[in-house]
Amino acid sequence: MEHYLDKMDQNQLQALQEALQFSPDNIPLRKHIAGLLYQQQAFEEAEGHFKIILKSQPGDLDSKLGLAGCFLGLNKISSAIILLEDLIKENPPSVPALLLYSRSLLEDGAQAQASEVYQQALQLDPNANDEALENRLKQSLQADMQQVDDQEMASSAIAVERPNISFKDVGGLDHVKNEIDLKIIKPLLHKELYAAYGKKVGGGILLYGPPGCGKTHLARATAGEVKAKFMSVGINDVLDMWIGNSEKNLHQIFETARRHRPCVLFFDEIDALGANRSDMKQSAGRHLINQFLAELDGLESDNDGLLILGATNAPWHLDPAFRRPGRFDRIIFVSPPDQLSREAILKVKLQKKPAKNIDYKDVAKATHNFSGADLEAVIDLAIEEKLAEAFKTGVPAPLLTKDLKNAVKKHRATTLEWFSTARNYALYANESGLYDEILTYLNIKK
Ligand SMILES: Nc1ncnc2c1ncn2[C@@H]1O[C@H](COP(=O)(O)OP(=O)(O)O)[C@@H](O)[C@H]1O
Ligand SMILES: [Mg+2]
Repeated sequence: MEHYLDKMDQNQLQALQEALQFSPDNIPLRKHIAGLLYQQQAFEEAEGHFKIILKSQPGDLDSKLGLAGCFLGLNKISSAIILLEDLIKENPPSVPALLLYSRSLLEDGAQAQASEVYQQALQLDPNANDEALENRLKQSLQADMQQVDDQEMASSAIAVERPNISFKDVGGLDHVKNEIDLKIIKPLLHKELYAAYGKKVGGGILLYGPPGCGKTHLARATAGEVKAKFMSVGINDVLDMWIGNSEKNLHQIFETARRHRPCVLFFDEIDALGANRSDMKQSAGRHLINQFLAELDGLESDNDGLLILGATNAPWHLDPAFRRPGRFDRIIFVSPPDQLSREAILKVKLQKKPAKNIDYKDVAKATHNFSGADLEAVIDLAIEEKLAEAFKTGVPAPLLTKDLKNAVKKHRATTLEWFSTARNYALYANESGLYDEILTYLNIKK
């Protein structure tokens, strides 16, 4: 198109157009005029001229190129692309056609292809570099990458909660609450005091024990207790969802928590990062574990204002590296609730239910070995029965002690199975007394 680029003033153009009226079949003249119009971005007029030329000379490459340029200028992108795809079939393809094709592709949102075509043009003619196009390609590539980043953020988005429960909503477990208070809440609230005594803060608490006994509940309540945000990360979900990309996503989770501090970052099923799991023995698994440890150590970013809690039903599967100082250096047994705790849990759970004169002590006595989840199940059962009754009689009646006790008989405690496994670890793999609390709970003398 270079030969169209001579500067030409408006008067001359008008003179040429008048001349064309007298000799409409003068193709070179029409071509010249079309080129000038195109150069002035009068795309519609230029388009008309190019089309007339192509009617009589369908093979005219310059005019095809001109027409494609007009299409692009008029935002008829797909028409431009169709025409240009044809034009670049020449061997070798014309460099101006390639450049125009690249611009059209870019306009069409095909950045990668646009970039490729541009490179092809440069290879054919290193002097053909088009700075404007180059910049736009770069920008759109960056925007594209940003978008990918954002998508990854979204896929790693673990909900940031603002729990409205606190320690008072957790029945019993006083010793665990105390530990959490001393180890992570007080350091958060009285940082200077700890610093004054030269006491290092940091590290997390690992809660372990049978399922349904309040580990998750307590972690959430910890956040509510100090009005911190709460993020719950199921490691198994992380592994499933992010195969191959877990490290990066893990980092993003920590970063999100750091942006929302104070924040309780809770890792559930943390044994999934176990040294004994076969998928963790492969190097990808090893990398993930190392990434996790680096984040815990706050190697690259500081973990001030992050409260780290973990939970597992199977602490014996966890990689021992997790238990070093500054990591999960407190391991606490969350036992099934004792009788007093069961009373407390039942009270909490029945608070908003239609119940009357419940003998909590009596029900608590009858639910030895029941977890909090078991107690919930009992209440659910009792309520279902009540509902069925209400449909029969037409009169809704409140829950009574005997209803709960009937339901207890229909539900089996779910904690016992866990103890049959845990007992073996406590007896035979109890390095440095790690699982002493289990033995104490089971009344086994060492
Ligand atoms: N000590 C407790 N106080 C109040 N609710 C409890 C307690 N323990 C368990 N629950 C209830 O039982 C259910 C299961 O508890 P969860 O925290 O998910 O158990 P875990 O994480 O130990 O498997 C939850 O709905 C929770 O509200
Ligand atoms: Mg849980």
